[in-house]
Amino acid sequence: MKIFLDTASIKSIKFYNDMGLIDGVTTNPSLLSKEKGNPHSIMKSISNMIDGDVSLEVIGTTYSEMIKEGHTLKLYGDNVVVKCPMTPDGLIACKKLTNENIPVNITLIFSANQAMLAAKSGAKYVSPFIGRLDDVGNDGINLINEIKQIFQNYDYGTQILVASVRHPIHVIQSAKIGADAITIPPIILDKMIKHNLTSIGLNNFLSDWKKIK
Ligand code: G3P
Repeated sequence: MKIFLDTASIKSIKFYNDMGLIDGVTTNPSLLSKEKGNPHSIMKSISNMIDGDVSLEVIGTTYSEMIKEGHTLKLYGDNVVVKCPMTPDGLIACKKLTNENIPVNITLIFSANQAMLAAKSGAKYVSPFIGRLDDVGNDGINLINEIKQIFQNYDYGTQILVASVRHPIHVIQSAKIGADAITIPPIILDKMIKHNLTSIGLNNFLSDWKKIK
């Protein structure tokens, strides 16, 4: 399963990329609003820092606006994937950008039908938001199971990019299902790295070493 970092923080991307953990990055307007600086400069820098796919989201709501923005975003790097919302205009933009060999990630997916239609439009990735489904009493992980089964049945070639990840268990569950990729916020990646027994064990080793005369 590819691991993408769900952030617009250059510092976090560098930190985890130095560990060799990052296959790509996903950003969105909310994540960019948390960072200081020009959002377009940030998106360009991220695209240059990472070899793998970097999803950059359009702001326009009509397909012509999305396509125009997609062309601009694609100039930031060969690895840019244009992120369009799961709307009728988003699907038109997806189809047209895909026809131009510009890959598209359809975001804000909350049902298997939406994922299937995004795949039909040629999306490289679909981004089901599992945490937000859990928040409203639905089962986000079940959605990943459904999409996985449908995509296997029909061999669409679209990849499942699990998004809106809230805890490390979501990551294990997604990997067991065989999701193609997952985008993880830095705080959750940090929780996956750390374990209390690792910290206790390391402290013990270091204090025992000091006892050696
Ligand atoms: O990649 C989508 C993600 O950033 C949304 O996460 O936590 O706002 O639901 P969240």
